[in-house]
Amino acid sequence: MIRLTIEISILIIVGLAYYFADYIKKYCKEIYLVASVISLMSIIHAIYILNGYSISYVPVLKQFMRAIDSGALGGAFFILVMYMGVLDMKYPISKRLRMNRGELSIIACIFTIPHNIHYFFAFLLNSKTIIQMSGIPLWTNLMMFSAGVFAIGIMLPLFVTSFRLIRKKMTGKKWKSLQEFAYIFYAMVFVQVLMVYISRPSSLIRNLNLIFYCLVFVTYTIFKLKILIDKRYMSKKSNLAVK
Ligand code: HEM
Repeated sequence: MIRLTIEISILIIVGLAYYFADYIKKYCKEIYLVASVISLMSIIHAIYILNGYSISYVPVLKQFMRAIDSGALGGAFFILVMYMGVLDMKYPISKRLRMNRGELSIIACIFTIPHNIHYFFAFLLNSKTIIQMSGIPLWTNLMMFSAGVFAIGIMLPLFVTSFRLIRKKMTGKKWKSLQEFAYIFYAMVFVQVLMVYISRPSSLIRNLNLIFYCLVFVTYTIFKLKILIDKRYMSKKSNLAVK
C-alpha cells in the first residue's frame, strides 16, 4: 500500500529539526534511547508480520509505525541529512538545521534498521517465488534487494563511526574518507526506492511519489555537482593568483 508518507514525514522532520535544534543537541543521548526503544518495538512488529500475524494500532500510532516499517521515516531523515551538504550557509535556517547533522544521521539509521530487517527477511522468505518470476518483476526485485543490501553495508560503518566516542579514535582524514561513501549510499537508496515504485502498478499516488523521489535525488546531484565545480574553479583561480 503506497501513500504520501515520505512527503508528510519530510515536512514533519524538517519542522522538528528546525524548532527543536537546541534540544536535539542538548538531549541527543536521550533521543537516541527513545528512538531505539521505538525501533525495537518496530522490529518486534516486523517479526510478528513475517510470522503471519497482523497487529493493529490506534490511528496516529498506526501511521507512525507504518512510516518506520516502510522505510519512509528513515528515508526522510536521510534526505534531510543529504540536503544539509548542499544548503547555502549564508541563511540562518541552513545553519540551524546543519548544527545537528551528525545527530540526525544517527537517528536516521536507528529508524531504518526495522525496515531493513523486515524487508531483508521478507525477500529471503519469498526468494523462491521471486526467482520463478521473469522479465521486469524479476529484475526490479533483484535490483531492489541488491541496492538495499549494498546500502545497509555502507550505512552500518557510517552509523558506528558517527558516534563521537568512536569518531575520536579515528584520524580526521580516515573519518572524512569513510564519509565519502555516503554518496554511494544515497545512490543505492535511490535505486532501491526507484525499483520499489517502478514495480508497482501505476496510480496517482505512486506516480507522485516516483516524481517526488526523482526530483529530490536529481536536484541534490545537480547542487552537489555545482558545488564541486565551483570549488575546483576557485582553487584553480587561487593557484593562478599565487603563481
Ligand atoms: C539502508 C538501507 C535502506 C534504506 C535507507 C531504505 C529506504 C527506503 C525508502 C526511503 C523507501 C520508500 C518508502 C516510502 O516512500 O514510503 C523504501 C521502501 C522499500 N524498501 Fe527499502 N531501504 C533500505 C533497504 C532495503 C532492503 C535491504 C530491502 C530488501 C528487499 C528493502 C525493501 C523495500 C521495500 C519492499 C519497500 C517498499 C515498502 C512498502 O511500501 O511497504 N529496503 N526503502
